[in-house]
Amino acid sequence: MIIDQVKKNYIPRHVAVIMDGNGRWAELHGNDRIYGHRQGVESVRSVVEGAGELGIEFLTLYAFSTENWCRPKEEVDALMSLLVDAIVREVANLNEKNVKMNVIGNIDSFPHEVQLKLKEAIYSTSSNTGLNLILALSYSGRWDILQATRQIIRKALAGEITEEQLDEPFFIDHLSTSVVPDPELLIRTSGEYRISNFLLWQSAYSEFYFTSIFWPDFRKENLFEAIVDFQGRERRFGKTSEQIRS
Ligand code: FPP
Repeated sequence: MIIDQVKKNYIPRHVAVIMDGNGRWAELHGNDRIYGHRQGVESVRSVVEGAGELGIEFLTLYAFSTENWCRPKEEVDALMSLLVDAIVREVANLNEKNVKMNVIGNIDSFPHEVQLKLKEAIYSTSSNTGLNLILALSYSGRWDILQATRQIIRKALAGEITEEQLDEPFFIDHLSTSVVPDPELLIRTSGEYRISNFLLWQSAYSEFYFTSIFWPDFRKENLFEAIVDFQGRERRFGKTSEQIRS
């Protein structure tokens, strides 16, 4: 079994996923796009379970990008209610699996009702100590960098920081992922080779794994395959092989 090939002493702490291909999968099955998104929730369930089984600490899923607001209104509305329904329905399951849910993104841009449901789910799972499931909602990497910059400008204008104090750790403290390590592995499904404004700052040294599988067909076994692939790579962080091995 593929899980037996995963080295248990070298599990990435943080895996991030661009869940792509729901629409094309639905089309392939002669159905509407929302059918693909609905099926995608099954994949989320399987991958969350698999991440928990491996002891991954953080799993970030790109569930709704800033740009997704530009989709036809019917699709945005359908995605929104699907998200809320899935989250509400899954809370008991998350608690049972000791999963702590969190959200990154411009949550203020969501309808009040959606915000409320998200906050309830976050609160309800807040004392869990297993996998940290982070949903990127109304998220984009550029938005994150801008919101961090705005906070820092406000502090500078208030005289709370000097130019010299602005270094990488200080900047990271203001990103929405401030308490989360950078993802070692970033997976994108559906055969597209793009980062699509996801974790731009945070993925500076991530290993990318692309698969042609559409998200609704992706299961935890595919996550294990990605991790086996990741474990076979040499991460050099700008150094030479020799430096890494010594
Ligand atoms: C990309 O496929 C997928 C999305 C924009 C939405 C992803 C959301 C889910 C799978 C639901 C998540 C639910 C929870 C509980 C986190 P696409 O529509 O861009 O597909 P296409 O590229 O084939 O058109």
